[in-house]
Amino acid sequence: MLSYRHQFHAGNIADVFKHALLTRLLLALNRKDKPYCVVETHAGIGLYDLQHAWAQKTGEWQKGIARLWSRSGSPELLRPYLDAVHAENPDGQLRYYPGSPCITRRLMRETDRLVLYELNQDDCETLRNQFRHSRHTSIQQQDGYTAIKATLPPKERRGLLFIDASFDQGEDFTRVARAVKEAHSRFASGMTAVWYPLMGRSAIEAFERSLLSAGLPKTLQLELFTESRDYSEHIPGSGLIVINPPYGLDQEAPPLLDWLWRTLSPEGKGGTRCEWLIPE
Ligand SMILES: C[S@@+](CC[C@H](N)C(=O)[O-])C[C@H]1O[C@@H](n2cnc3c(N)ncnc32)[C@H](O)[C@@H]1O
Repeated sequence: MLSYRHQFHAGNIADVFKHALLTRLLLALNRKDKPYCVVETHAGIGLYDLQHAWAQKTGEWQKGIARLWSRSGSPELLRPYLDAVHAENPDGQLRYYPGSPCITRRLMRETDRLVLYELNQDDCETLRNQFRHSRHTSIQQQDGYTAIKATLPPKERRGLLFIDASFDQGEDFTRVARAVKEAHSRFASGMTAVWYPLMGRSAIEAFERSLLSAGLPKTLQLELFTESRDYSEHIPGSGLIVINPPYGLDQEAPPLLDWLWRTLSPEGKGGTRCEWLIPE
């Protein structure tokens, strides 16, 4: 039974963090002419109406994308992400927020292939409708973890696996770690990006240990948190693990995350992290 609906959370701090970094990964793939494939295991509906009752109920986007929208002087590194949000709001009023499938399709070249998995039937239908005219995009209403076997290695032999699980079920950390290992064994040269919530010290440490023991190549760990990391009350933020990150991401990410953190944490709580979990 799937209870998680991203419509409640679209455009929140975690979305801004993961989507801003996602654009950097896609732009890096675009540096070479050779076609590539992006596989997303947990796609959501693609485009979110921030006036929808669910988004209004939590108001999470007000502390996320709304804070960027009202600020000038954003760094150039953030431009592709902000352009993607602006493209959905051409009248200059923030109403729609693009999820990862929309951001990804916008940045990919037309002939690059996008494969989306979304298990929730209603969300999958909405996603299908959203991409009904999109060429080179396929949508599967299936468990996203089955994408690893079904799609890797892609025929292009270049690409990104993006795993953005909902973590509403306790076993997601274990399933994600298993998926990462399997993806690496099937497509060792591919890039994998995994989002995770900072849900508790022991869960994160266990997750890191399982990645460290998986025989992975160089892996960068990025985090943004806007509360203290004592884990006493809130989930303070989230992270992105990037296996086989593009050249230069370790240089781009710190100033990008620093600007995001200063904008998203006006009280100055929390911080950012950019470290090699597995160095070269
Ligand atoms: C965090 S949301 C995805 C947000 C999207 N990646 C974005 O950034 O716009 C997670 C999505 O995964 C879906 N989901 C949950 N379990 C799944 C599974 N086992 N396989 C595929 N999708 C799943 C949920 O219905 C939800 O839409």
